[in-house]
Amino acid sequence: MRVIIYTGKGGVGKTSVAAAAALRASELGYRTLVFSTDASHSLGDSFDKDLGHEPTEVAPKLWAIETNAYADLEANWGVVRTHIANIITLQGMNEVLADEAAILPGMDEIFSLARIKDYRDSGQYDCIIVDAASTGETLRLLSLPQTLSWTVKLLRKADKYILKPIVRPLSRLSPELEEMIAPEEVFEAIEKMLLKLKAIKKLLADSSQTSLRLVMNAEKMVIKESKRALTYFNMYGLLVDGVVVNRLLSTDSGYLESWREIQQRYLDEVKTGFSPLPVQTAPQYHSEVVGIANLSRLAKDLYGECDPTLISFNETVFEIRKQKGEYSLKMRLQLLDKEKLRIRSTANDLILQVENQRRIISLPSAMSGYRPSKATYENNYLTVYFNKRKKAEQ
Ligand SMILES: Nc1ncnc2c1ncn2[C@@H]1O[C@H](COP(=O)(O)OP(=O)(O)OP(=O)(O)O)[C@@H](O)[C@H]1O
Ligand SMILES: [Mg+2]
Repeated sequence: MRVIIYTGKGGVGKTSVAAAAALRASELGYRTLVFSTDASHSLGDSFDKDLGHEPTEVAPKLWAIETNAYADLEANWGVVRTHIANIITLQGMNEVLADEAAILPGMDEIFSLARIKDYRDSGQYDCIIVDAASTGETLRLLSLPQTLSWTVKLLRKADKYILKPIVRPLSRLSPELEEMIAPEEVFEAIEKMLLKLKAIKKLLADSSQTSLRLVMNAEKMVIKESKRALTYFNMYGLLVDGVVVNRLLSTDSGYLESWREIQQRYLDEVKTGFSPLPVQTAPQYHSEVVGIANLSRLAKDLYGECDPTLISFNETVFEIRKQKGEYSLKMRLQLLDKEKLRIRSTANDLILQVENQRRIISLPSAMSGYRPSKATYENNYLTVYFNKRKKAEQ
């Protein structure tokens, strides 16, 4: 069973690439489900078919879903939302606003994501391909389990230490206070949600089954966002096993020739910057990628005769740890001559340079204010240590 998540900056071709990979997987005989968690659904446009909240067969062995995040949210979180909204309304807030305030941003998608686990457990599919929201939203989604479980713990504590012993006896005197006490079903829904979140986290972090692929175009800002995303995915312990560069101009691009040259330079930057991740490429077509024939062409350009469901790389590209107030970043790096390595950092990036080859690694924002203090190189692994403000010694 495989779960492959395609993510990337807005508009780069995530939906098209996910649909193409799914089509190829189904042609190879895998029972494949392609699943869009993106609210602005375009998976149906890619297949040129109307899709719904439940799987629709779009080709032999291939099913597609456009999730209805709102329906998933109501089914899972409806009672909790009503309860929180009631409390907020009691404070005098307008009911519509209170309803909105009772949902954390990105929460709807997490419930949709939770369905992936149900489909995996159903045993009906060999491969699930996810057309995810843009990198920014996917990242927020990934940090949501932590935020949510923290909120839930707080709610439970409030119930145990404040509501039950203090508010409950008083609530007989005031109907308003009575409404503040969560009914049992709210806690049941929260418990269920916590279990689901744990299961999703486990599924996403299981690199023998799940991997992410970053889709991008050969453009400066797109590459920059993807690098940042790679850093965060690595921090969350998720496996990124490939990069897709979409919409590359071909050699006969006429008046766009200079644009093509710029793209080639950025493509080289992607190859070194994301090394050792494999890089797949697809050309800019003359028309949109709509319908089975076009998707099939895209799949062929991306994967040729290869199987897109295989995990093409299974190591974390780098690992960031924090110990005793000091950060360390460990990565595999083949160096022929370690004396030639220069390490620099800016507020946001770590820059590794060997002669004219540069590798830029985006650092998480928690590390701003930290500077490289020491580096070691052993058995092809480079470890850079960071501490506050100290300048590099090398
Ligand atoms: N290689 C390509 N050549 C030509 N058109 C393409 C190519 N890849 C994608 N497109 C077209 O570009 C548009 C955007 O692609 P797509 O919907 O796959 O991007 P996306 O990253 O999913 O966007 P969003 O962030 O809005 O979800 C679509 O109309 C698609 O058909
Ligand atoms: Mg899309």
